[in-house]
Amino acid sequence: MRRSRIVGMGHFVPERVVTNDELGQQMETSDEWIVQRSGIRERRWVEGNVGASDLAVPAALQALAEAGRTVADVDLILFATLSPDLNFPGSGCILGAKLGIPGVPAMDIRTQCTGFLYSLSTADAMVRSGMANCVLVVGSEVHSSGLDISTRGRDVTVLFGDGAGVAVVAASDDTSGLIDHELHADGRYAEILMVEAPASRLTPRLTKEMMDEGRHFPKMDGKAVFKHAVEKLPALVHSLLGRNGLTLADIALLVPHQANMRINELVARHLGLGPEKVMHNIQKYGNTTAGSIPIALHEAALEGRIQKGDLVLLAGLGAGLTWGGTLLRW
Ligand SMILES: CC(C)(COP(=O)(O)OP(=O)(O)OC[C@H]1O[C@@H](n2cnc3c(N)ncnc32)[C@H](O)[C@@H]1OP(=O)(O)O)[C@@H](O)C(=O)NCCC(=O)NCCS
Repeated sequence: MRRSRIVGMGHFVPERVVTNDELGQQMETSDEWIVQRSGIRERRWVEGNVGASDLAVPAALQALAEAGRTVADVDLILFATLSPDLNFPGSGCILGAKLGIPGVPAMDIRTQCTGFLYSLSTADAMVRSGMANCVLVVGSEVHSSGLDISTRGRDVTVLFGDGAGVAVVAASDDTSGLIDHELHADGRYAEILMVEAPASRLTPRLTKEMMDEGRHFPKMDGKAVFKHAVEKLPALVHSLLGRNGLTLADIALLVPHQANMRINELVARHLGLGPEKVMHNIQKYGNTTAGSIPIALHEAALEGRIQKGDLVLLAGLGAGLTWGGTLLRW
């Protein structure tokens, strides 16, 4: 049976490091509050006019080099982002142009923190069906240009960072690779984490008054998101393993979405997983949304925390609500 696997990965974060102390100079917050509530010590923010596709270019080139492929091999781009370069067209189209591969199909996937997982499962289905052979699966975000960098927005602003991660997913006939995916969405909770404007449901889509009220900045009910994550992620992990006849003992590493260290520590505790089996890098990057899982997975591989043949679980929850997981053999 034709299958697919990740044959190379890359990631890229902007050079500029923004520490918690630096944020403390721009709003009423502190290193102690941020570290205690989220585990984040610093994040990377772009300087100047840099879009999600700009961060994706070096990550994509690194992933292709790691895969021993070139841009000429790519026959599909899937671009997960909640911070596209433009409202439309999608960043996938823009990335294709920047990589110099006009004509290659490209689509954006708008499922926020699970964007990489939705994209990976789509890539897997496209490759298994024979509709694609070599897919660039991109998760990339520039949050910093859309955050309320003031005390009003501090609950959200301190959590988010910019960054991109890319996987090259290609056809494979060995038994390693992408095994199974489980995806969920529940739009009843759409407004617990959202950017309200500009939006088609508003006429006009954006006014000066709306901007004065900060309605173009992300709004979050942090406690509600936290509760959904610690309930839904352990259930998802059990479901994904169970339907594949596996248990947690079979898993070499869980790579969770990096939203909050406390969420991931609680999820690990509920699952009974020791710290050696859970990947964290939120302390360096904050929450890079669609970028978070591929950046963490690539760093785990570079650090030698996963070896060829290991079973790895990816899992995440975020705005939508959306949540999901992928089981793969590295
Ligand atoms: C956001 C989050 C860290 C807040 O932690 P919390 O324990 O729920 O904190 P609260 O919202 O109750 O706020 C506690 C106090 O800290 C204040 N506060 C909020 N942000 C702050 C900041 N950056 N610095 C200092 N104080 C802050 C609040 O105003 C509140 O003050 P009050 O008690 O005087 O009203 C936490 O809810 C969280 O991580 N949720 C999940 C978020 C997430 O994962 N989002 C992304 C999903 S993809």
